[in-house]
Amino acid sequence: MNRATNVFFMGKGGVGKSTSSALFSVFLAQKGFQVLIVSLDPAHNQSDIFERDLSDKPIQIAPNLSAIEIDQEFWIRQYLKDIHNQINRTYSYLTAFNLEKYFSVIKYSPGLEEYALILAFEKIKKNFSQCDYLIFDMPPTALGLKFFSLPSLSLIWIEHLLALRKEIIKKRDLITNIKLIKKEIERDKVLNKINDLRNQYQDLKDTFEDRKQTQINLVLNPDKLSYAESIRIVKALQEININLYRTINNKMKLDSSVEDINEVFAGIPRTNFPHSETPLIGIHNLQKFVKANGDQLEKQLSISSPNPI
Ligand SMILES: Nc1ncnc2c1ncn2[C@@H]1O[C@H](COP(=O)(O)OP(=O)(O)OP(=O)(O)O)[C@@H](O)[C@H]1O
Ligand SMILES: [Mg+2]
Repeated sequence: MNRATNVFFMGKGGVGKSTSSALFSVFLAQKGFQVLIVSLDPAHNQSDIFERDLSDKPIQIAPNLSAIEIDQEFWIRQYLKDIHNQINRTYSYLTAFNLEKYFSVIKYSPGLEEYALILAFEKIKKNFSQCDYLIFDMPPTALGLKFFSLPSLSLIWIEHLLALRKEIIKKRDLITNIKLIKKEIERDKVLNKINDLRNQYQDLKDTFEDRKQTQINLVLNPDKLSYAESIRIVKALQEININLYRTINNKMKLDSSVEDINEVFAGIPRTNFPHSETPLIGIHNLQKFVKANGDQLEKQLSISSPNPI
């Protein structure tokens, strides 16, 4: 089975995540790879960069290159619906809760955005596995980090829930004085659901930790605030066992000093993108920049051409 490589562009607000992901996508498509660029940032800048109306259905931008912007509200609704259905199935005695009636308020609940992004990511990964590259333009740091931490964090909770549920089953056994045979324990709906969740999050965690499947590019600019936040991002990712794939020093000027940052990120591959005087908007300007900086973009690739079919 073909499995697309997931390439993420992370970094502080405004450093050039959307622009760098667009440039990299144009470059890969020109090389002959099948590329889908996906905006996971609810602020959606890819429409402006490519000067096209994008939606949750892929739209072709250039040969081998299509683009999607995910509809965050749709995925929040989807996530809440899944929970709602699950509660109804498991606890059928509970009175029905009218999700739609409260959706306009619930959608702003803290913590929903990262679940929405994870659901969207899983769906895209599944539906577009025939691509060579899935390029993800990420939201700024806070939400980006929540997205990557969600699987690890959920797994901690899930382990506790599993232990608790097993304890409950044992107690039920004692109280009813009926020996539950192994089969009945296996049939426990709640336990099964928790196990399904464990598999789902373990799969995501494995995907994010595997450099063959996931490449995380950290975009930064030659300035102190961007450096400071980049260091925090790297540390936060390391804590959840995810390593950076590459740093991209973007908007570099002739007099930009990068020694401090190169020291901090020593050992991590690096790409330099110059500050462009021409706005990096529209496919022609992007292609021009790609042509002029081909050597830098080439550095981002570990393989140089797609496998012949
Ligand atoms: N190499 C570059 N040279 C000149 N301008 C650039 C370069 N890279 C990005 N820009 C400009 O910087 C601004 C911010 O870029 P971009 O939107 O790509 O950043 P971002 O990190 O995605 O921002 P956000 O955090 O808001 O999503 C834009 O006006 C973009 O055109
Ligand atoms: Mg952006």
